[in-house]
Amino acid sequence: MPTLASSAQQVPQSRIRELAEVAMKMDGVLKLYFGESNMPTPDFIKRAASQALEEGYTFYTENAGLPGLRQDLADYYQRLQGVRLDPLSEIVVTASGVQALNVGIRCVLNPGDEALVLTPAWPNASAIIRLSNAVPVEIPLPLRGDRYAIDCDALQAAVTARTRLLVYTSPSNPLGWVATEAEQERLLAFARRHDLWLLADEVYDRLYYAGGELGVPAPSILRKATRQDAVLVAQSFSKTFCMTGWRIGWLVARRDVGEKAAQLNEFIISHATSFIQRAAQAALAHGEDELRRMLVRLRENRDFCLAGLRRMPGVTVPSPDGAFYLFPRIDGLTDSFAFCWKLLQETKVGIAPGVAFGAGGEGSVRICYAAERAILEPAMERLAGFLSTSWR
Ligand SMILES: Cc1ncc(COP(=O)(O)O)c(C=O)c1O
Repeated sequence: MPTLASSAQQVPQSRIRELAEVAMKMDGVLKLYFGESNMPTPDFIKRAASQALEEGYTFYTENAGLPGLRQDLADYYQRLQGVRLDPLSEIVVTASGVQALNVGIRCVLNPGDEALVLTPAWPNASAIIRLSNAVPVEIPLPLRGDRYAIDCDALQAAVTARTRLLVYTSPSNPLGWVATEAEQERLLAFARRHDLWLLADEVYDRLYYAGGELGVPAPSILRKATRQDAVLVAQSFSKTFCMTGWRIGWLVARRDVGEKAAQLNEFIISHATSFIQRAAQAALAHGEDELRRMLVRLRENRDFCLAGLRRMPGVTVPSPDGAFYLFPRIDGLTDSFAFCWKLLQETKVGIAPGVAFGAGGEGSVRICYAAERAILEPAMERLAGFLSTSWR
């Protein structure tokens, strides 16, 4: 009897999804479990998509994406990060951030290779590594004082002859941690020293609150790396421009990987949807004002939820510099899934269990604060009530 491929069997079910599936069948749940804002895509982006349909963007495009969009992305990096990229060989448009991770990881891992993944982290990179018949080795970011930090000794100790890749996410989902310039330099030096690929997931780079002014992006690793470095960056339009359902992103990579990823796209997705690529160009050209308005709201939400959580006994939560998540640690919590399950059943507040984010995640929960205040306020109140009663 034929069986499923072992690579497919090794991929565990997402525990965020497991809880969400239950929540979606219930009425009146305050939904803070998924990583998306409930703000709709700005109208000008929707109009650009309709216009592109009218203009006939209904045919195949290049595997690497429309040359115009790649040029706009190169200009975007020049403007926001001061980084010069070759749009023809170093940028590949993908059908989402997930697909950027997927094609990037497939380009650099052989079966049996090991990939170091800094966790707690959104589980998709580890799952894609497993799907590539490789092995994710999760290295937790310890909480040191009010900040998560990189455990360089643990990283060093985890390197074996099979290690080929180091993956990190900054700004981080679920921590909100943003790698400092010194930390980026350390990661890059580590990757160079051990001859590893370095994959940075930077999909939250524009949701950054520590840049002095809102709208200033978190610094990309591309500022530190040369174009000859073995560095890849996974990116997306989802979070910055409220385009989660559109499925559009991009990969920046060293020229040889960029060219290979474009070729592999043919066999994975062929290319991102043609008219959506045009809408993405509109987002890059006209999205800044809308983004800044969203950031004002997100920062207020972050501060509101942080203050609320810090009043709750037994809760420790560092101040995050990016993304739209809080990852409070709860004293005595040993089964975050059971905690979230009970919270959902008893209070109709839906949050994500820390265990879903790999090593170092158990004992915490993730709250996405990109919802309206009308949802966040009762959710915080109910969480406080739940924590003060016998949740154990
Ligand atoms: C860290 C991280 N990377 C990548 C993605 C993928 O975004 P998308 O596939 O919607 O572009 C997400 C989405 O939640 C994420 O949290």
